[in-house]
Amino acid sequence: MAELTRKEMLGWLSEKDPQKLEELFREARACAIRHVGPKVYFRGLIEFSNFCSKDCYYCGIRKSNRNLERFSLTEAEILECAKAAYEMDYGSIVLQSGERQDGVYAGFIEDILRKIKKMTSGKLGITLSLGEQAPETYERWFEAGAHRYLLRIETSSPALYQRLHPADHSFETRKRCLEALCRIGYQVGTGVMIGLPFQTHEDLVGDIFFFKDQDIDMIGMGPYIAHADTPLKAQISDYDPSENFRLGLVMVALTRLFLKDVNIAAATALQTLDVQGREKGVLAGANVIMPNITPTDYRKLYRLYDNKPCLDENARQCKNCLEQRIRAAGAKIGYGEWGDAPHFMRRKSAAV
Ligand code: 5AD
Ligand code: FES
Repeated sequence: MAELTRKEMLGWLSEKDPQKLEELFREARACAIRHVGPKVYFRGLIEFSNFCSKDCYYCGIRKSNRNLERFSLTEAEILECAKAAYEMDYGSIVLQSGERQDGVYAGFIEDILRKIKKMTSGKLGITLSLGEQAPETYERWFEAGAHRYLLRIETSSPALYQRLHPADHSFETRKRCLEALCRIGYQVGTGVMIGLPFQTHEDLVGDIFFFKDQDIDMIGMGPYIAHADTPLKAQISDYDPSENFRLGLVMVALTRLFLKDVNIAAATALQTLDVQGREKGVLAGANVIMPNITPTDYRKLYRLYDNKPCLDENARQCKNCLEQRIRAAGAKIGYGEWGDAPHFMRRKSAAV
């Protein structure tokens, strides 16, 4: 298939015919199998703290939300989660938290990285999702053993970015962070929210071109879901969950067809809008799923949006549940493997 044009992408974003969409998804799944293989990789997600110094208008753990108990797991608790992931044969974990930029925090993370590496003889892969940091901090964590980093750009439109964030949050800074992460040697993931208020289909097409222009290795994107205690929720007049779900799947499929050899996650937010959301994401071209392995008691406190799924399940229940879902979708799980994106190998060998 020839490379998709902007015009074709816009056409697909407005396509409502279920049969035509099925064809698009089938083609995207076939493209995933061709370029990244038939397996789906699990990344155990540890949401270890909801303290955040940022104030994004859409996010439930923004610092101005007083309607929320704040928590942080201890080092021992985080190591326990990492060990459980290793024992469940997940090839890698993702450490995610609200954003903190102080030196104590940077040291805390560095120690944990070294300890996890030691505990698993370097076998458990570690992805960080800890927001904007100084390049020196990114370097320090890379040295300590992290090899992938997720930092969503949220939207590639600077004007829309500005409407979704307070004045001191900067699109340019975020973009510079992504560039620093690539330079340092991380496998870099970014992504956007889909169906945001004020977002156009042109913005979404722009997002896909942004991923390509930035030479991104991994994509994590999902539908925007309102959170009751956020300023953005107050600005929404019409929210159509099924439309946002459709757009989410079309974005996964178009991104797969356009970028080909990257890893694409089926976001948990997809499951909020449709019980089979993540399996449908896989069938539309995604090849990564991030099962939640945060201790159950803390899950409800890490609520970025309303109706987050899996609040009462524990890590093993999520594993069994997802395993069945992925099998039912006809895909295999890549247990015990890091599942690096072929795109990263290509980028690395091109840089030598
Ligand atoms: N709906 C969907 N995704 C959200 N995120 C934050 N708030 C929301 C929301 N209301 C996403 C952001 C962030 C990631 C960790 O969670 O894209 O980067
Ligand atoms: Fe958590 Fe299904 S993935 S219960």
